[in-house]
Amino acid sequence: MELIQYPQKNDDGGIADKIIALEKTAWPENAPDGVFPSAPNTYVTSFVLIEKDQAICHVGVRKCAFCHKADVYLAYGLSEVVTHPRYQKRGLATQTIQKAKEFILSQQPDVSIFTCGKERVPFYARCGWEAVPGACLVGGTKEKPFRSDDLNLITMIMFLSSKSKQHKKDFENTDILLELGENQLW
Ligand SMILES: CC(C)(COP(=O)(O)OP(=O)(O)OC[C@H]1O[C@@H](n2cnc3c(N)ncnc32)[C@H](O)[C@@H]1OP(=O)(O)O)[C@@H](O)C(=O)NCCC(=O)NCCS
Repeated sequence: MELIQYPQKNDDGGIADKIIALEKTAWPENAPDGVFPSAPNTYVTSFVLIEKDQAICHVGVRKCAFCHKADVYLAYGLSEVVTHPRYQKRGLATQTIQKAKEFILSQQPDVSIFTCGKERVPFYARCGWEAVPGACLVGGTKEKPFRSDDLNLITMIMFLSSKSKQHKKDFENTDILLELGENQLW
């Protein structure tokens, strides 16, 4: 099993196809045209486990600056976290998220933020993020906001910079607006 960071200098194009094939195991309705990354404006990189020429675990990393209560923050998020059904519950996502987290920390953002289903909160909390009470991540665009609470998703945050730690309370019971692009939400 090999852990790679995508994109690679000499990528032959095959890795993106392998990631798409893996994502289809979890979200068969998405990416019918085989486009990866689906949101290049915010996409940074991916950590991918390859086994027998197949992607078996993927963690995407996204990036976006945003303004919240008069302060500007740089956010990095996780997206498209998926392990192939045959390889689940062996610690592979935890291990790959750890690599993504090390990368995110090295970029020195103010916060790491993304959303997940309620049932996944303990999993991501063990990885270092916390569920922020009443926080609603609003992605999409100004004209067409995409609200995480409409999907019953929980907003997970890791407060990293001293500025974000000082203003931690500002993130509770509020909307957090990130212009991620149409229909985009981490
Ligand atoms: C969520 C998902 C990525 C987890 O991937 P995974 O590789 O199975 O994750 P891990 O093995 O690291 O951890 C999963 C669980 O297995 C447990 N586990 C880890 N190693 C284990 C082992 N050796 N034996 C038994 N259980 C183990 C973990 O403690 C964790 O438990 P929890 O669900 O109670 O938190 C995977 O279920 C998936 O792809 N789901 C579909 C897509 C999806 O929903 N993605 C998340 C979007 S937010």
